Amino acid sequence: MKGIILAGGLGTRLHPLTRITNKHLLPVYDKPMIYYPIQMLVNAGIEDIMVVTGGSNSGDFLRLLGNGKEFGLKRIHYGYQEGEGGIADALNTAREFVGDDKMVVVLGDNIIEKNIKKAAADFKKQKKGAKVILKEVANPKEYGVAEVVNGRVKRIIEKPKNPVSNLAVIGIYFYPPEVFNIIGKLKPSKRGELEITDVNNAYIKRNMMTHEILDGWWMDSGESKDALLDANILVKKSGANKI
Ligand code: DAU
Repeated sequence: MKGIILAGGLGTRLHPLTRITNKHLLPVYDKPMIYYPIQMLVNAGIEDIMVVTGGSNSGDFLRLLGNGKEFGLKRIHYGYQEGEGGIADALNTAREFVGDDKMVVVLGDNIIEKNIKKAAADFKKQKKGAKVILKEVANPKEYGVAEVVNGRVKRIIEKPKNPVSNLAVIGIYFYPPEVFNIIGKLKPSKRGELEITDVNNAYIKRNMMTHEILDGWWMDSGESKDALLDANILVKKSGANKI
């Protein structure tokens, strides 16, 4: 299984912190943010990893991470997203890297307390379709929100004004290689992006989506300046920074 970390975008919600650097290079306690999703994949036994970046600071990832020696990796692959066309557009950059393999996609600002070993093992056995991970949150309006009926995800609504549940779809997604056919057919949303929520809803419509509830805390550390501060404190307190 391949691992893809998406670390492009403009990070405008964090201005001025991100005016001259990429959000995923900002510190979360004692490490740059991007270290956490990389370590998450390595902890799950996924060592074939591509980091997708974009913008004028993309070269800094190479300088920072090199071949991934700090994580015990032999090499890291790099992808470059032209512009900021959304999460699904960033994933499209990894098409050739993925080939005929299954994949786990992690948003570069997502940090978890524990690990995704079980979800990854379950997905390896899954015969068709995709898998998402859900987590109960206090502020569902900020995320993709899942409506779960009879143990199945019925639909996902991106940043709803009136959330139907408090179950956020976190930024860790499992897909088969044919996800790129779905991305190829997507139309940009109102905000001009190819939305990962549209990809997930396509799998739900075909009845090919499974889900798990995450054990332990989850942080979308790039969601706001407060979330970034909270992530720093949580990581320090919990020791989730250990490599
Ligand atoms: O963190 C979980 C949430 O992430 C989900 O609940 C939402 O359904 C999903 O849409 C996403 O929402 P965000 O508003 O947090 O997405 P954001 O625009 O912050 O992008 C998340 C990551 O994706 C970011 O760390 C970098 C990467 N990205 C984003 C864009 C727009 C790219 O690599 N390229 C892009 O063009």
